[in-house]
Amino acid sequence: MNKKQCATRPTVLVVDDNESIRDTIEAILKKDYTVIKVGDGEKALMIIKERELNVILLDIKLPGMDGIKVLKKVKEEYEYIEVIMITVVKEVETAVKAMKLGAYDYITKDFSYDGVANLVKRVIEKQRNSRELLYLRSEMEHYMDIGFIIGKSRKMKRVYDVIQKVAKLHTTVLITGESGTGKELIARVIHKENCKGNEPFVVVNIASIPEHLMESTLFGHEKGAFTGALKQHLGKFELANGGTIFLDEIGELKYDLQAKLLRTIQECEIERVGGNKTINVNLRVLAATNVDIKERIKEGKFREDLFYRLNIIPIRLPALRERIEDILQLVTFFIDRYNKEFKKNIRGITDSAIEILSSYHWPGNIRELENLIERLIAICDGDMISAEDIPIEYQYNNIVSSQIKEDNTDVLQLACDTFERNFILKTLEKVNWQRVDAADVLGIPMSTLKYKFKKFGIYDLLKEKRALS
Ligand SMILES: Nc1ncnc2c1ncn2[C@@H]1O[C@H](COP(=O)(O)OP(=O)(O)OP(=O)(O)O)[C@@H](O)[C@H]1O
Ligand SMILES: [Mg+2]
Repeated sequence: MNKKQCATRPTVLVVDDNESIRDTIEAILKKDYTVIKVGDGEKALMIIKERELNVILLDIKLPGMDGIKVLKKVKEEYEYIEVIMITVVKEVETAVKAMKLGAYDYITKDFSYDGVANLVKRVIEKQRNSRELLYLRSEMEHYMDIGFIIGKSRKMKRVYDVIQKVAKLHTTVLITGESGTGKELIARVIHKENCKGNEPFVVVNIASIPEHLMESTLFGHEKGAFTGALKQHLGKFELANGGTIFLDEIGELKYDLQAKLLRTIQECEIERVGGNKTINVNLRVLAATNVDIKERIKEGKFREDLFYRLNIIPIRLPALRERIEDILQLVTFFIDRYNKEFKKNIRGITDSAIEILSSYHWPGNIRELENLIERLIAICDGDMISAEDIPIEYQYNNIVSSQIKEDNTDVLQLACDTFERNFILKTLEKVNWQRVDAADVLGIPMSTLKYKFKKFGIYDLLKEKRALS
């Protein structure tokens, strides 16, 4: 399946032995869909084989093969085609049975114009969402082979191209990017692409190692090299021998050690602290930083020669706000991950929630997004993550930009209203859309709640939800 198919005009097959019903349904749907009509089950199955269908409107009583048999066959072989049963009023029970077999819904033969049109529209929307998800998942599975997802944005494709080119070379790579953009993940990918099996990948987070231990952590020490050096100790470079060393936050390395690091990289040999022999190492050096090293050079805190040695191949990871088109894919990926972890079954995220997330500035980048989705999956009890679930601080930009559109809006009031509306909706959801219970939980009189329904446009939603439940 590809996205293009989802975007073309959907096709609906109408199966009914009554010609006037076929024609009426065609008249209702032909404006928005391609409609095919047949009078029996056997012909329906032929069409299903030949054409790409989205929805089948299927009469239960048909000459020859009946609707239930056709439904079973469709669901066995074409699970992505949705089926709506057509039934006479007195056989509604059979239609309900059909829904247990996988039919999406049913209509009775006294259907209304709007009833049919809305139902088909809903089915197609649902199908589009789940096909989109499926498409994204299959794309992601590919990327999961290398342990991560790359995103479809141009900026990440460029990153991926560079990775592919450099992975097999032995050169040093400097990965730059804001905190949480995935620098370590990229380093692991480069290592994995280059190595066949069990070669070591050793991470050294320069910022987290106390200054006085830095040299021996990197290069090791001999017994007695300094007070407290009770036995010989191998450094990270030796541990990474044959594989990759990842020097995270390289910008924090002390100036005097930078010369030793440069020598190590150039000559492929190290000397343990307190030792007098050189040890050959054969490894690849990857480094990362979220500070601007050129600035540090200007300040005299970073050696220019080391920078050029590390920066042979630079990879700059875009901030999440620069690749916002990837957000749905990332969110879907994290929903999957945390559904598994928390044994939940959240099906996805609504468009309006994605819109909110897309207008946020993400200072913590993908790590922040991952943490948010983890939190939402843990607490969400609906079947989709919706706008109401997103904490108010993520809605700030959305609120402020709506203010730009409409002059004279009191932004603080708008933020309070957004919070209030979301809170009421969450409460309603919890009490199964029962107004009296909601007023009770919220601790306000029914008249106030009704006023708020009106103010926040909640009435329509309430009607819809109650009709469904
Ligand atoms: N493309 C991606 N797909 C899925 N998860 C990602 C992606 N990029 C980053 N992550 C996740 O985001 C989190 C942060 O990534 P990582 O630790 O690699 O970032 P970083 O740039 O090294 O951050 P810092 O500068 O804070 O050390 C990790 O949990 C990682 O798994
Ligand atoms: Mg990191």
